Amino acid sequence: MANVTFSAPTLAKDITVYAVAGDRRTLLAVAKEHGVNIPCQCQDGECGSCLIKVTYLGTGTRKACELTEKEKLTLSVNGKLSKDILAKVELEDLPPPYRLACQYIVRDEDILVEFSGEPGVEIDLRRG
Ligand code: FES
Repeated sequence: MANVTFSAPTLAKDITVYAVAGDRRTLLAVAKEHGVNIPCQCQDGECGSCLIKVTYLGTGTRKACELTEKEKLTLSVNGKLSKDILAKVELEDLPPPYRLACQYIVRDEDILVEFSGEPGVEIDLRRG
């Protein structure tokens, strides 16, 4: 089980849900199941509308992560995956801070998921 906390200016308060890790559902599917509206258009990793910022809340070592080529491209085009960050991600096998909710498979990790809640609006980086 993983605790997934959703946070967005459009939510009255943060929402924490339990997600079953390893069932191969995307974070977008988990959000929908719990009535959390993350903007999304293509649901196929191509448009970038489901951009999220993921912060690991656990205390152990993060699990390895492999981004698909599609997600790498879309994050890069949206300015959320620089060559430096990509190199670090690939070298250390760790996830970058920004992901696509429609491509993110929930794992057994407690995470904070931040998103703007409005289509086409960037995540407010001032939150940390
Ligand atoms: S909904 Fe288009 S990239 Fe996720």
